[in-house]
Formats: sequence, structure tokens, C-alpha cells
Amino acid sequence: MTEVVVVTGASGGIGRAVARAFGARQARVALLARGEEGLRSAAGEITRDGGTALAIPTDVADFAQVDAAAERAEKELGPLDVWVNVAFTSVFAPFDEIEPDEYRRVTEVSYLGYVHGTMAALRRMKPRDRGTIVQVGSALAYRGIPLQSAYCGAKHAIQGFNEALRCELLHDGSHVRTTMVQMPAVNTPQFSWVRSKLPRHAQPVPPIYQPEVAARAVLHAAAHPRRREYWVGGSTVGTLVANAVAPGLLDRYLARTGYRSQQTGSADPAGRPENLWAPADRARDYGAHGEFDGQATPRSVQLWASRHHGLLAAGGGALAAAAVAAWRRIRSGA
Ligand SMILES: NC(=O)c1ccc[n+]([C@@H]2O[C@H](COP(=O)([O-])OP(=O)(O)OC[C@H]3O[C@@H](n4cnc5c(N)ncnc54)[C@H](OP(=O)(O)O)[C@@H]3O)[C@@H](O)[C@H]2O)c1
Repeated sequence: MTEVVVVTGASGGIGRAVARAFGARQARVALLARGEEGLRSAAGEITRDGGTALAIPTDVADFAQVDAAAERAEKELGPLDVWVNVAFTSVFAPFDEIEPDEYRRVTEVSYLGYVHGTMAALRRMKPRDRGTIVQVGSALAYRGIPLQSAYCGAKHAIQGFNEALRCELLHDGSHVRTTMVQMPAVNTPQFSWVRSKLPRHAQPVPPIYQPEVAARAVLHAAAHPRRREYWVGGSTVGTLVANAVAPGLLDRYLARTGYRSQQTGSADPAGRPENLWAPADRARDYGAHGEFDGQATPRSVQLWASRHHGLLAAGGGALAAAAVAAWRRIRSGA
């Protein structure tokens, strides 16, 4: 039977790549976001590849809209198998340049949007005792960086609520799974449409990965949700390990480098669109990729290793056993 999958933030960026990847596997995909141009194009891509797509314009900050979207997805596509939370927004600015209403909006979309999606999914999955929820996270779910305080707060909050929920599901002996995928910098439209008060154009901090790398990680996590968390990209591993070992050192490093590394050399074009209160794609489909195709890599060796860690462990074990056997033969003079 084909899977029924809901993806929030499916009109652009990582969500769009995730929806497309599920569609290519013939899943029946419900696409949630606000931008109707992006939703229409995303649905077109999926149906052209032979998948089934249902675009449902939804603001994830509003639980009633999210719950109604879940209801419609079940009615038109069937019982939910997988729910992927991806939708987000932010304000790129120093903390003291962000207004209270902007902070609230980022939190309502980027944190509560995930809570709403999870609630809508659980209400339907728990009674059936099956289903998987994937939270698309970030290295910044553990490590705050300058100019992104509202976003980092939301990502840390998701990490916390998801961990608590996971404990509860384990306590209940539920077969509903939740897992989180911590992403590295990805080439998506966010750097063109997230509200920015920076003097220069925002950019992802290299190394930059293509959204298809993120999508492969999400599909793998959805198929193997017993693992609590996935880290994608060597930069995510490096950041999370360094932060666990020497967070104070990282504070100083990021204070020195974090402003420069998050901006290009040029200013934003005047009157560029913003997606904080309303979608930015009314006149144009932004797609999955951002402006950094020239710098972004379509592969991650670390992701491959993480997906095949059983194989690598077995290979490493076999190599170690062979080395010990060879050493014993040499010592015994055989
Ligand atoms: N790109 C990166 O470097 C990076 C790194 C680490 C983690 N991530 C994570 O990956 C996820 C996606 O990031 P991205 O870079 O792909 O973002 P993006 O390109 O900005 O796309 C964001 C998506 O969320 C939707 N969205 C925004 N506000 C919404 C709202 N109120 N209701 C419903 N949908 C809304 C947007 O569509 P509409 O505007 O049409 O609604 C769009 O589809 C985020 O959770 C982010 O934390 C990204």
C-alpha cells in the first residue's frame, strides 16, 4: 500500500524537496504551506513524476488550520503514515533589533507550528497505534548563533518538546514514533525571503548542502524512526561535538566569525520580498533551491556513513578481527 505523507513547508526549500522525494516513491503527499504559487508548482512536480499530491493552503501558526488540513488529508488520501514538520520563518537581526511581535510570530510559526503539526498527527496516529513524525531540526537546535536568536530559541524548543514526547510514547509502549533530523546549512530560498535587518544579504554558513541531501535524510529517518535523532553533514557533527565539549570557546569563536559568515559581500536588493506575515511567492515560484547552487554540494559522505552505520560497524569489526587474527599468526610464527 502506498504511504500517506503530510509535509509542512512544502511550497519551497527542504519541505519541497522532501515532498518531491516522497512523491517519487509513489507516496500520496499532502502539501501544507501558505504560498499558492509554490504549492501549485510542487503538486505539479509530484504528479508529473507519477505521485499523488494534495495542496492544502495552511498557516501552521493556527492550530485549527493545521488540524483541518490533517482531516482533509485523511479524507482524500487515507490514514496518515508519516507527518514531516518543516515549515519555519525567522528574522535575521541582532536580538535588540527584533520587535516583540516579530519574536512572537517566529515562535508561533517555527516552534508552535511544529507543536500543532505533531498534535494533529498524534490525534490520528495514537488511536491506531502506528505512524511516524519527523521533526526537521538543525545543528542550531543545540547551538545558538548570533543574528538568529528567535530561530535558535524555536529550534531548541522543538528539541526539548520532541524529547519529552518521545519519553511519553516510550512510557506508553506506543508504536507511534518520533525522530528529529538535525540539518547543516542548506541552499534554500530562506535567504531570499526571510525578514532581514542585516546590512548585507544573508547566506548559509558554508559548507552548504543541496536540499536533496536533506530530503534523503528525512526519507531515511521516516523509514527508520526508532533512532531518536539523525545528524546530517560533517559540519553538523563538528558543531554538535564541539558544543558539547567546549561551548564557551564556541561562544567566542561565533562572536568573532558569526556576523561575517552569515552575510555575503552585497546588500539586499531594495524591496525584496519577506515571508514573516504572508507568503512571499505570490508572483513567482521559488522552488526548492536558493541562490547558492554554485557553492552547494549534492552529497554528504557523513550522511551515507550515518545511514549505513550498521554496515560500517560490521566492516570495522571484520577488519579488526582480521587484524587480530593476523597479529596472532605473526606472533605464533605460523
Ligand atoms: N536552509 C538551511 O540552511 C537550514 C539549516 C538547518 C535547518 N533548516 C530547517 O529546515 C526547515 C526548512 O528550511 P528551509 O531553508 O527549507 O526554509 P524555506 O526555504 O524558507 O522554506 C520554508 C517553508 O516554510 C513555509 N512557511 C513559512 N511560514 C509558514 C507558515 N506560517 N505556515 C505554513 N508554512 C510556512 C514556506 O512556505 P510559505 O511561505 O509558502 O508558507 C516554505 O514552504 C526549517 O525547519 C529549518 O529550521 C534549514
